[in-house]
Amino acid sequence: MIAIPQQVIAHRGISASAPENTLSAFKLAKQHGIEWVEFDVSLSLDRECVIFHDDDLDRCSNLSGPLAQQSLAALKQGDFGSWFAPEYAGETILELKSLIQWLQTNDMHFNLEIKVDPNIAWEPLVENIAATLPQTSWLREHCLVSSFHPAALLAFSRLREDVPLGILLDEPMQHWQDWAEGVNASTVNCNYDHLTTAFANDVVDAGYQLLVYTVNTPEQFETALSLHATAVFSDNPERLMQP
Ligand code: G3P
Ligand code: MG
Repeated sequence: MIAIPQQVIAHRGISASAPENTLSAFKLAKQHGIEWVEFDVSLSLDRECVIFHDDDLDRCSNLSGPLAQQSLAALKQGDFGSWFAPEYAGETILELKSLIQWLQTNDMHFNLEIKVDPNIAWEPLVENIAATLPQTSWLREHCLVSSFHPAALLAFSRLREDVPLGILLDEPMQHWQDWAEGVNASTVNCNYDHLTTAFANDVVDAGYQLLVYTVNTPEQFETALSLHATAVFSDNPERLMQP
């Protein structure tokens, strides 16, 4: 089982201070001494893995419409920083393979979230991620792969038995333990807004590490720790880590 040594994971990078899921947001985490980052992986029209959260491009770029209808070349023409602040103008979309290289060079830990767009087939996304992640001992100690999508995570687990996994829940679900056992999960990643003490106890008592998203205030952080969370995902991890 992967050990999550630190209590705060930068959610989409330090997304409160830089455009989410961009290299600037991940570099900021490194600068602040945050060792773990989370990011979302989606698939372009030509089946290339890119780092982006939404199904549509509108909120976080100067492009519009579904990401899945744009080629990588077209996505690379977009500006993924100006929407956040003028100083980030010209920030480009990240390819998974470049980000992995950067993480490896900087010895960063990461939670890769498989982001399934309900309008397209998820199999090529899972296959591409499985093929892109290097088969190294470094990876096994630095990577956690998660998804809200049970079938996609199960398929990934069959392709890459070497990679630690987390099941990702919005609301507590009835048969979560079957899913966790089926993929041999290390962690159960829960939404803070829907997390109950009873569910947190069930997760911890069953031997899983409890991870909680998205925790941005010291009060929420304290509550999550009191529920025996191993770690939380935060948009402003450097603020929570302050003594
Ligand atoms: O993995 C935790 C969190 O990122 C899940 O929700 O929507 O922010 O990707 P979301
Ligand atoms: Mg995510």
